Amino acid sequence: MASETTAMGPSAGASTRPSAGPGLVARLRRDAPWWVLPATVVTSLTTFSGYALWTALLGHDRWGPYLSPFYSPEIAAGRTRASSAIFVAGAPLLFRFTCYYYRKAYYRSFLLDPPACAVRDPHRTYSGETSFPTVLNNLHRYVWWLVAIVVSFLWLDVFRAFFGTGADSGHIWLGVGTGVMLGNVVLLTAYSASCHSFRHMVGGHVDCFSCVRFGKARYQAWRGVTLLNIRHPMWAWVSMFSVWGTDIYLRMLQAGWFLDPHIRF
Ligand code: FES
Repeated sequence: MASETTAMGPSAGASTRPSAGPGLVARLRRDAPWWVLPATVVTSLTTFSGYALWTALLGHDRWGPYLSPFYSPEIAAGRTRASSAIFVAGAPLLFRFTCYYYRKAYYRSFLLDPPACAVRDPHRTYSGETSFPTVLNNLHRYVWWLVAIVVSFLWLDVFRAFFGTGADSGHIWLGVGTGVMLGNVVLLTAYSASCHSFRHMVGGHVDCFSCVRFGKARYQAWRGVTLLNIRHPMWAWVSMFSVWGTDIYLRMLQAGWFLDPHIRF
Protein backbone atom coordinates (compact mmCIF):
# COMPACT_ATOMS: atom_id res chain seq x y z
CA MET A 1 0.00 0.00 0.00
CA ALA A 2 2.99 2.27 0.45
CA SER A 3 3.47 2.63 -3.28
CA GLU A 4 -0.27 3.22 -3.81
CA THR A 5 -0.26 6.01 -1.23
CA THR A 6 2.67 7.60 -2.99
CA ALA A 7 0.86 7.40 -6.32
CA MET A 8 -2.37 8.89 -4.97
CA GLY A 9 -0.83 11.82 -3.22
CA PRO A 10 0.03 14.07 -6.19
CA SER A 11 -3.32 13.64 -7.95
CA ALA A 12 -5.45 14.40 -4.93
CA GLY A 13 -6.04 18.01 -5.85
CA ALA A 14 -2.52 19.46 -5.91
CA SER A 15 -2.42 22.70 -7.86
CA THR A 16 0.98 22.07 -9.41
CA ARG A 17 2.20 18.89 -10.96
CA PRO A 18 4.80 17.00 -8.94
CA SER A 19 8.26 16.26 -10.15
CA ALA A 20 8.72 13.21 -12.31
CA GLY A 21 9.69 11.07 -9.32
CA PRO A 22 10.40 7.38 -9.79
CA GLY A 23 9.84 5.61 -13.08
CA LEU A 24 6.43 4.46 -14.28
CA VAL A 25 6.88 0.84 -13.25
CA ALA A 26 8.03 1.87 -9.79
CA ARG A 27 4.82 3.88 -9.35
CA LEU A 28 2.50 1.02 -10.22
CA ARG A 29 0.78 -0.74 -7.37
CA ARG A 30 2.47 -3.84 -6.05
CA ASP A 31 -0.28 -5.18 -3.85
CA ALA A 32 -2.12 -6.97 -6.63
CA PRO A 33 -1.42 -8.55 -10.03
CA TRP A 34 -2.35 -5.21 -11.62
CA TRP A 35 -1.22 -6.35 -15.04
CA VAL A 36 -3.86 -9.09 -15.37
CA LEU A 37 -6.68 -6.72 -16.38
CA PRO A 38 -4.71 -4.69 -18.96
CA ALA A 39 -3.18 -7.85 -20.36
CA THR A 40 -6.65 -9.38 -20.74
CA VAL A 41 -7.96 -6.23 -22.43
CA VAL A 42 -5.02 -6.06 -24.83
CA THR A 43 -5.30 -9.74 -25.71
CA SER A 44 -9.08 -9.65 -26.19
CA LEU A 45 -9.24 -6.48 -28.27
CA THR A 46 -6.24 -7.38 -30.40
CA THR A 47 -7.55 -10.87 -31.10
CA PHE A 48 -11.05 -9.61 -31.87
CA SER A 49 -9.75 -6.93 -34.24
CA GLY A 50 -7.57 -9.47 -36.03
CA TYR A 51 -10.46 -11.91 -36.27
CA ALA A 52 -12.79 -9.20 -37.64
CA LEU A 53 -10.27 -8.36 -40.37
CA TRP A 54 -9.69 -12.02 -41.17
CA THR A 55 -13.37 -12.91 -41.44
CA ALA A 56 -14.12 -9.80 -43.50
CA LEU A 57 -11.42 -10.74 -46.01
CA LEU A 58 -12.46 -14.39 -46.06
CA GLY A 59 -16.04 -13.73 -47.21
CA HIS A 60 -19.00 -16.10 -47.71
CA ASP A 61 -20.21 -16.19 -44.15
CA ARG A 62 -23.74 -17.47 -44.68
CA TRP A 63 -25.21 -20.83 -43.87
CA GLY A 64 -28.81 -21.62 -44.84
CA PRO A 65 -30.98 -18.81 -43.45
CA TYR A 66 -28.20 -17.54 -41.21
CA LEU A 67 -25.99 -14.56 -41.93
CA SER A 68 -22.98 -13.48 -39.91
CA PRO A 69 -23.28 -10.06 -38.21
CA PHE A 70 -20.01 -9.08 -39.86
CA TYR A 71 -21.74 -9.25 -43.27
CA SER A 72 -24.97 -7.45 -42.57
CA PRO A 73 -26.46 -5.55 -44.29
CA GLU A 74 -25.59 -7.36 -47.51
CA ILE A 75 -24.85 -4.47 -49.77
CA ALA A 76 -23.43 -6.90 -52.27
CA ALA A 77 -25.00 -5.66 -55.48
CA GLY A 78 -22.13 -5.62 -57.95
CA ARG A 79 -19.60 -6.20 -55.18
CA THR A 80 -17.88 -9.18 -53.69
CA ARG A 81 -19.10 -10.36 -50.30
CA ALA A 82 -15.70 -9.54 -48.81
CA SER A 83 -15.79 -5.93 -49.92
CA SER A 84 -19.27 -5.57 -48.42
CA ALA A 85 -18.07 -6.99 -45.12
CA ILE A 86 -15.17 -4.61 -44.96
CA PHE A 87 -17.48 -1.69 -45.67
CA VAL A 88 -20.11 -2.77 -43.18
CA ALA A 89 -17.70 -3.70 -40.40
CA GLY A 90 -16.24 -0.18 -40.43
CA ALA A 91 -19.14 1.43 -38.56
CA PRO A 92 -19.34 -1.10 -35.68
CA LEU A 93 -15.56 -1.14 -35.29
CA LEU A 94 -15.42 2.67 -35.27
CA PHE A 95 -18.28 2.69 -32.80
CA ARG A 96 -16.37 0.45 -30.41
CA PHE A 97 -13.11 2.31 -30.99
CA THR A 98 -14.71 5.64 -30.05
CA CYS A 99 -16.89 4.21 -27.23
CA TYR A 100 -16.28 6.01 -23.95
CA TYR A 101 -15.81 2.73 -22.11
CA TYR A 102 -13.43 1.21 -24.65
CA ARG A 103 -11.46 4.46 -24.70
CA LYS A 104 -10.85 4.12 -21.00
CA ALA A 105 -9.96 0.47 -21.49
CA TYR A 106 -7.43 0.95 -24.28
CA TYR A 107 -5.94 4.17 -22.92
CA ARG A 108 -5.18 2.28 -19.74
CA SER A 109 -4.29 -1.10 -21.16
CA PHE A 110 -2.54 -0.35 -24.46
CA LEU A 111 -1.04 3.03 -23.66
CA LEU A 112 -0.82 2.92 -19.83
CA ASP A 113 -1.97 6.52 -20.07
CA PRO A 114 -2.64 6.43 -17.16
CA PRO A 115 -2.57 2.75 -16.21
CA ALA A 116 -5.21 3.21 -13.51
CA CYS A 117 -7.00 5.75 -11.35
CA ALA A 118 -4.69 7.74 -9.07
CA VAL A 119 -1.59 6.70 -10.98
CA ARG A 120 0.14 9.64 -12.57
CA ASP A 121 0.50 9.44 -16.34
CA PRO A 122 3.88 10.06 -17.94
CA HIS A 123 2.89 13.34 -19.65
CA ARG A 124 3.85 16.75 -18.29
CA THR A 125 0.88 18.39 -19.99
CA TYR A 126 -2.63 17.12 -20.46
CA SER A 127 -4.71 18.16 -23.44
CA GLY A 128 -7.55 15.71 -22.99
CA GLU A 129 -9.12 14.75 -26.29
CA THR A 130 -8.96 18.22 -27.81
CA SER A 131 -6.23 17.64 -30.37
CA PHE A 132 -5.67 15.28 -33.28
CA PRO A 133 -6.06 12.31 -33.36
CA THR A 134 -7.99 11.77 -30.13
CA VAL A 135 -10.36 14.64 -30.94
CA LEU A 136 -11.83 12.31 -33.58
CA ASN A 137 -13.30 10.25 -30.74
CA ASN A 138 -15.96 12.94 -30.54
CA LEU A 139 -17.45 11.45 -33.69
CA HIS A 140 -18.90 8.75 -31.48
CA ARG A 141 -22.32 10.39 -31.19
CA TYR A 142 -22.63 10.42 -34.99
CA VAL A 143 -21.36 6.88 -35.49
CA TRP A 144 -24.14 5.81 -33.12
CA TRP A 145 -26.64 6.50 -35.89
CA LEU A 146 -24.74 4.33 -38.36
CA VAL A 147 -24.70 1.50 -35.84
CA ALA A 148 -28.41 1.94 -35.19
CA ILE A 149 -28.95 1.25 -38.91
CA VAL A 150 -26.70 -1.83 -38.78
CA VAL A 151 -28.50 -3.19 -35.70
CA SER A 152 -31.85 -2.66 -37.45
CA PHE A 153 -30.62 -4.85 -40.30
CA LEU A 154 -29.47 -7.48 -37.80
CA TRP A 155 -33.01 -7.63 -36.42
CA LEU A 156 -34.22 -8.08 -40.00
CA ASP A 157 -31.73 -10.93 -40.46
CA VAL A 158 -33.12 -12.66 -37.37
CA PHE A 159 -36.64 -12.24 -38.74
CA ARG A 160 -35.56 -13.73 -42.06
CA ALA A 161 -33.79 -16.60 -40.31
CA PHE A 162 -36.97 -17.45 -38.41
CA PHE A 163 -39.07 -17.42 -41.56
CA GLY A 164 -36.55 -19.09 -43.84
CA THR A 165 -35.01 -18.09 -47.13
CA GLY A 166 -34.93 -19.67 -50.59
CA ALA A 167 -36.55 -23.14 -50.62
CA ASP A 168 -37.40 -22.75 -46.93
CA SER A 169 -39.21 -19.49 -47.47
CA GLY A 170 -42.67 -19.57 -45.94
CA HIS A 171 -41.66 -22.02 -43.23
CA ILE A 172 -40.81 -21.20 -39.66
CA TRP A 173 -37.27 -22.26 -38.83
CA LEU A 174 -36.31 -22.71 -35.20
CA GLY A 175 -32.72 -23.69 -34.79
CA VAL A 176 -29.77 -23.19 -32.52
CA GLY A 177 -28.53 -20.69 -35.10
CA THR A 178 -31.67 -18.55 -34.85
CA GLY A 179 -31.22 -18.53 -31.08
CA VAL A 180 -27.57 -17.53 -31.47
CA MET A 181 -28.50 -14.72 -33.89
CA LEU A 182 -31.33 -13.53 -31.67
CA GLY A 183 -29.14 -13.50 -28.57
CA ASN A 184 -26.49 -11.58 -30.47
CA VAL A 185 -28.83 -8.84 -31.68
CA VAL A 186 -30.41 -8.48 -28.22
CA LEU A 187 -26.95 -7.95 -26.71
CA LEU A 188 -25.95 -5.51 -29.46
CA THR A 189 -29.17 -3.58 -28.90
CA ALA A 190 -28.45 -3.43 -25.18
CA TYR A 191 -24.91 -2.24 -25.90
CA SER A 192 -25.95 0.54 -28.29
CA ALA A 193 -28.96 1.55 -26.13
CA SER A 194 -26.74 1.79 -23.05
CA CYS A 195 -24.35 4.16 -24.87
CA HIS A 196 -23.49 7.35 -22.98
CA SER A 197 -24.14 9.42 -26.10
CA PHE A 198 -27.55 7.86 -26.57
CA ARG A 199 -28.39 8.55 -22.93
CA HIS A 200 -27.50 12.17 -23.56
CA MET A 201 -29.63 12.21 -26.71
CA VAL A 202 -32.61 10.93 -24.70
CA GLY A 203 -32.23 13.01 -21.57
CA GLY A 204 -29.66 15.67 -22.34
CA HIS A 205 -30.17 19.39 -23.04
CA VAL A 206 -32.96 19.41 -20.46
CA ASP A 207 -32.89 21.09 -17.05
CA CYS A 208 -36.48 20.23 -16.25
CA PHE A 209 -38.32 17.29 -17.81
CA SER A 210 -41.74 18.58 -16.82
CA CYS A 211 -41.02 21.86 -18.60
CA VAL A 212 -40.49 20.46 -22.10
CA ARG A 213 -42.67 18.72 -24.66
CA PHE A 214 -42.88 14.97 -24.18
CA GLY A 215 -41.00 15.51 -20.94
CA LYS A 216 -42.65 12.61 -19.13
CA ALA A 217 -41.93 10.18 -21.97
CA ARG A 218 -38.37 11.43 -22.19
CA TYR A 219 -37.92 11.03 -18.46
CA GLN A 220 -39.18 7.42 -18.58
CA ALA A 221 -36.93 6.69 -21.56
CA TRP A 222 -33.98 8.29 -19.80
CA ARG A 223 -34.59 6.17 -16.71
CA GLY A 224 -34.68 3.02 -18.85
CA VAL A 225 -31.52 3.94 -20.72
CA THR A 226 -29.85 4.80 -17.43
CA LEU A 227 -30.58 1.33 -16.08
CA LEU A 228 -28.82 -0.14 -19.11
CA ASN A 229 -26.09 2.48 -18.98
CA ILE A 230 -25.04 1.45 -15.47
CA ARG A 231 -23.87 -1.87 -16.95
CA HIS A 232 -22.40 -0.41 -20.14
CA PRO A 233 -18.97 -2.08 -19.75
CA MET A 234 -20.67 -5.45 -19.37
CA TRP A 235 -22.78 -4.91 -22.52
CA ALA A 236 -19.64 -3.81 -24.35
CA TRP A 237 -17.83 -7.06 -23.62
CA VAL A 238 -20.66 -9.58 -23.92
CA SER A 239 -21.87 -8.07 -27.19
CA MET A 240 -18.36 -8.22 -28.61
CA PHE A 241 -18.08 -11.89 -27.72
CA SER A 242 -21.57 -12.61 -29.04
CA VAL A 243 -20.66 -11.15 -32.45
CA TRP A 244 -17.51 -13.23 -32.40
CA GLY A 245 -19.35 -16.38 -31.28
CA THR A 246 -22.09 -15.99 -33.89
CA ASP A 247 -19.55 -15.77 -36.68
CA ILE A 248 -17.60 -18.76 -35.35
CA TYR A 249 -20.81 -20.80 -35.09
CA LEU A 250 -21.66 -20.11 -38.73
CA ARG A 251 -18.15 -20.94 -39.86
CA MET A 252 -18.35 -24.27 -38.07
CA LEU A 253 -21.62 -24.99 -39.87
CA GLN A 254 -20.04 -24.04 -43.17
CA ALA A 255 -17.11 -26.32 -42.50
CA GLY A 256 -19.53 -29.18 -41.95
CA TRP A 257 -18.39 -29.89 -38.40
CA PHE A 258 -22.01 -30.53 -37.44
CA LEU A 259 -25.55 -29.77 -38.57
CA ASP A 260 -27.54 -26.97 -37.00
CA PRO A 261 -30.11 -28.62 -34.72
CA HIS A 262 -33.43 -27.20 -35.85
CA ILE A 263 -37.08 -27.82 -36.46
CA ARG A 264 -38.99 -26.48 -39.46
CA PHE A 265 -42.71 -26.19 -39.72
S1 FES B 1 -20.21 5.08 -24.87
FE1 FES B 1 -19.87 3.02 -25.32
S2 FES B 1 -21.08 2.73 -27.08
FE2 FES B 1 -21.34 4.85 -26.68
